[in-house]
Amino acid sequence: MKILMVASEANPFIKVGGLGDVVYSLAKALVKQGQEVAIVIPFYKSLRYQSKHAIQFIGHLDVFLSWRKHTVSLLTTKVDGVTYYFTDAAYYFDRDGVYGYPDEHERWAAFVHAVRHMMPVVGFQPDVVHLHDWPTGMLPVLIRELDQKNTFYQKMKFVMTIHSPAFHGEFPPHLIQDFYGLGNHLYDDGALRFQDQASTLKAGLVYSDRITTVSPSHAEELLTSEGSFGLDPILHLYRDKFVGILNGIDTDEWHPTKDPHLVTPIQKLTLQTNKDKNKEQLFNMFDLEHPQYPLFGLVSRLTFQKGIQLILDNLDHFVHLGAKFIFLGAGEMDLEHRLKAFEAKYPKAVRVILGYNNPVAHQIYASSDFFLMPSLFEPCGISQMIAMRYGTLPIVRETGGLKDTVKSYAIYGEKATGFSFLHYTGDSLGWAMQQAMSLFEQKPLLKKLQLNAYETNHDWEKASQLYLKLFTSIQ
Ligand code: ADP
Ligand code: GLC
Repeated sequence: MKILMVASEANPFIKVGGLGDVVYSLAKALVKQGQEVAIVIPFYKSLRYQSKHAIQFIGHLDVFLSWRKHTVSLLTTKVDGVTYYFTDAAYYFDRDGVYGYPDEHERWAAFVHAVRHMMPVVGFQPDVVHLHDWPTGMLPVLIRELDQKNTFYQKMKFVMTIHSPAFHGEFPPHLIQDFYGLGNHLYDDGALRFQDQASTLKAGLVYSDRITTVSPSHAEELLTSEGSFGLDPILHLYRDKFVGILNGIDTDEWHPTKDPHLVTPIQKLTLQTNKDKNKEQLFNMFDLEHPQYPLFGLVSRLTFQKGIQLILDNLDHFVHLGAKFIFLGAGEMDLEHRLKAFEAKYPKAVRVILGYNNPVAHQIYASSDFFLMPSLFEPCGISQMIAMRYGTLPIVRETGGLKDTVKSYAIYGEKATGFSFLHYTGDSLGWAMQQAMSLFEQKPLLKKLQLNAYETNHDWEKASQLYLKLFTSIQ
């Protein structure tokens, strides 16, 4: 089967969060199962300067947004059996960031136009187009409204995956014509209408043959009014085509015994001593004191989603108990400043590294005793699965994929793989952190849990089979 993944992020080229991990590692897993898989993403500014992969020019096409004409170059390369296509619309994507520009909706409109026209030009005719999140939602609308008579597109099926339900891709309805050349009846009849705006996410949900989200628990949450960000009526309507499939992680990149970013590989039989060696090196590198105390790590986008406030509520207390903290993250300025203020207050116990840094992320996952992920909501979460693979025990809120992947100490005892709490309050997180502190003193039990976590399998094999089954069911 030929599968085209359309996304705004994909490793190893561009990644802001877990979306970049998932698009690449799912594609790779599908290739392993004998499928022909391509990914298309925009050609961002940072890609111009990458030298690792040989990216080739293969042609160009014109994209029209009303009266605006943009010439888009098409580029390609191949990584691990996955073909990558890049649409180079410099006017919109030759920029430093991935999201958050004033002309956001015009940019993604240009991208989906380019993807639609790219397929016949590069000669890739997918059986299934796998769309990821709101930037891609208008592609099936364009194809199903404008290309019905074109045999190239006629049999194409669409699957849309919701990773970030809080983002709906809203734009003023009067721009439907300007951005997409489509009539306003698509708004008037409700297909694109969401909370009195046009929405690219809703468009994708309505026009796709199947809808997925990234964990079974989050699929349930999306069907409730409290946990769906307003999407529940739509998903109830399409209940029959909606399913939750748990993400996996890229076990090649996140490999405790073959990780080039660690000073010592983390082997099963010497797990504790290997972790301690890495921890000591991290303490030296970041000038922290007393590596014999428990280390709580965090690697995260700094947004309201991630529950950083609950951590801030607990920092004074746990620093006084001797705990150490390393935070790696980038995002909302207010959260960055508040974390930095704690670092200034406790320079030998708290380190805050701002920015995106993959090697340091690897070191934190491997060296921490506990990994903080008290998210307000979490469709799946990749970080807690990575942490476990390195024998680091996650402390999570019981939401979405966190609930589906972490076995809580309070319930599972010595069979647990981490800690969890339910209520979104600082006290509840503190309660779980206190359990971690106590467990740290009970070394044989700590070791048991670390081994449980280390041995948990979260590779893509099962999930990619479920996707393949889903893709096959709509042929
Ligand atoms: P989300 O996609 O909501 O950000 P996930 O847990 O699904 O959360 O995925 C986060 C991914 O991004 C993980 O691979 C994590 O290691 C990575 N990541 C997040 N922030 C950073 C950062 N500042 N530096 C390096 N990697 C990061
Ligand atoms: C989103 C979600 C995260 C999920 C990731 C990949 O960024 O916030 O929970 O793991 O997508 O699906």
